[in-house]
Amino acid sequence: MIISSANDYRKAAKRRVPPFMFHYADGGSYAEHTLQRNVSDLSDIALRQRVLKDMSNVNTEIELFGEKLSMPVALAPVGALGMYARRGEVQAAQAAEKKGVPFTLSTVSICPIEEVAPAIKRPLWFQLYVLKDRGFMKNALERAKAAGCSTLVFTVDMPTPGARYRDMHSGMSGPYKEIRRVLQSMIHPFWAWDVGIHGKPHTLGNISKYVGKEIGLDDYIGWLTENFDPSISWKDLEWIREFWDGPMVIKGILDPEDAKDAVRFGADGIVVSNHGGRQLDGVLSSARALPAIADAVKGDIKILADSGIRNGLDVVRMIALGADACMLGRSFVYALGAEGGAGVENMLDIFKKEMRVAMTLTSNEKISNISRDALVDLSKL
Ligand code: FNR
Repeated sequence: MIISSANDYRKAAKRRVPPFMFHYADGGSYAEHTLQRNVSDLSDIALRQRVLKDMSNVNTEIELFGEKLSMPVALAPVGALGMYARRGEVQAAQAAEKKGVPFTLSTVSICPIEEVAPAIKRPLWFQLYVLKDRGFMKNALERAKAAGCSTLVFTVDMPTPGARYRDMHSGMSGPYKEIRRVLQSMIHPFWAWDVGIHGKPHTLGNISKYVGKEIGLDDYIGWLTENFDPSISWKDLEWIREFWDGPMVIKGILDPEDAKDAVRFGADGIVVSNHGGRQLDGVLSSARALPAIADAVKGDIKILADSGIRNGLDVVRMIALGADACMLGRSFVYALGAEGGAGVENMLDIFKKEMRVAMTLTSNEKISNISRDALVDLSKL
């Protein structure tokens, strides 16, 4: 299959990865309206073409939290990446390092922090969920620090998990899931061989290390559901601050008032995100939420944005709407599922080329030049 875009990687992943894992990544919550609007609201934003301005020195590099990035992109935290390719977290982290962007390790990764961090020289970013078991959170922060992680991404939009109907249909959850997963993995022998599904059972590395026994896919969903903490408030962030002195980014902000609270709290960054349409279906797409948030806090805090970004043009759109950088979720998961780390590298190359074209044809040589001027205000046409 010829691959020329992240959408091609989606098709390729659909062929290679068994349905229960493909739909786990591809799906969203409830009727998936927000999931769809994340993508369509972004592609509806018209870029403003400008010409004849000598664009021979287009440069996509930025600096973020003291790190150099080859483009304003970081790989978002994604749980169970090791189910998309063998040691998927390591492969994706190495691909990100090669292409000069940060990789964020999820709390619920297959490979533990201690396995991923030494596999690359670039410091990892580490993502933490709010869990009732504060002992786990403290332990995870200490381990992240010991492993040299640079930036903490604290995800706050999962005080309780959203209902994902596709997971119930696919065999990821629901009745007979074990039987359906085994059957699906037999129909996808290359995937099963690669991720080792018929060998050692897959376990969630970070959690298993903490509880001292192997926690598999089922146990972990049970463990998380029991452990997600709806009582979370800004006070808990103060508590986390005691254990983390590096940059702290709050992920899952969708409202300007919450963004202002993040500034008051003293966070270094926020991620404008609806968790890729996986939590509350019906909330605004990130692209529509971002401008008001940027109006409220731009310059006071670093603004990252994710949800719905499928190509380099979308990155330029998010920057124009007010983001300093973007996070990529599904775009790299599909590439990892289709071609492993090499796929993630290629996907990042594709994004960079697309960004360069968009910057050239909107006449923006540097990322810092990109503003709302790069967009056509359709309401005025
Ligand atoms: C996620 N996301 C996520 N976020 C997080 O903070 N911790 C996690 O463990 C996960 N796990 C996860 C698994 C899968 C399969 C997906 C697709 C997403 C959300 C992720 O970080 C990001 O916010 C979205 O993926 C961004 O939207 P797009 O780019 O996928 O549309």
